[in-house]
Amino acid sequence: MDIIEAIQIRRSARKFLAGEIEEEKLKAVLQVATHGPSAGNLHPWQTRVIRDTETKQALAEAAQGHGFLADAPIVLVFCIQPARSAERFGARGAELFCIQDTAVAMAYAQLAATAAGLASCWVGDFDEQKVTRALKLSNGDRPVTILPIGCPAAAVAPNPRMTMDDVARRQ
Ligand SMILES: Cc1cc2nc3c(=O)[nH]c(=O)nc-3n(C[C@H](O)[C@H](O)[C@H](O)COP(=O)(O)O)c2cc1C
Repeated sequence: MDIIEAIQIRRSARKFLAGEIEEEKLKAVLQVATHGPSAGNLHPWQTRVIRDTETKQALAEAAQGHGFLADAPIVLVFCIQPARSAERFGARGAELFCIQDTAVAMAYAQLAATAAGLASCWVGDFDEQKVTRALKLSNGDRPVTILPIGCPAAAVAPNPRMTMDDVARRQ
């Protein structure tokens, strides 16, 4: 699958089949996530890889209305590391670059999952404190996105998109 096809067929999946994900596929997702651009090449993020039922349940409880998190075979939680960005870039690093860098990694991870025949869903609507507690995060690391990954239980219809004219303004 080429990159354009992966971009075009990716969908947010919210129902997953039971069953393990091969370690090779997980490694491919994690590897590709490290290949994005990053301010100062710092990659100020870490992802927690969750497979155990209890933690997945805690994440589902932290993200009200996202019970499907508990059904995904693997859940990644992407955490920004503002302190690492701040060391090099000050406030702009802590408040902006580390979030941008992590969003890039997340997007790459989603595309890698798609290319591996898996589905995922970017979940940003959660109680940050509950997730921080569930994962015992420290050093100022902050969870910014939860990414359940698995085999989709059903095909997902494409969502409408903005037009070129909506998004691009020529000057
Ligand atoms: C920053 C961000 C936050 C999101 N948060 C959630 C969320 O909390 N719950 C959810 O079900 N989907 C969430 N999504 C997924 C979007 O709803 C989805 O990408 C959008 O509807 C387009 O559909 P598609 O991904 O299938 O193309 C989020 C996506 C982004 C980029």
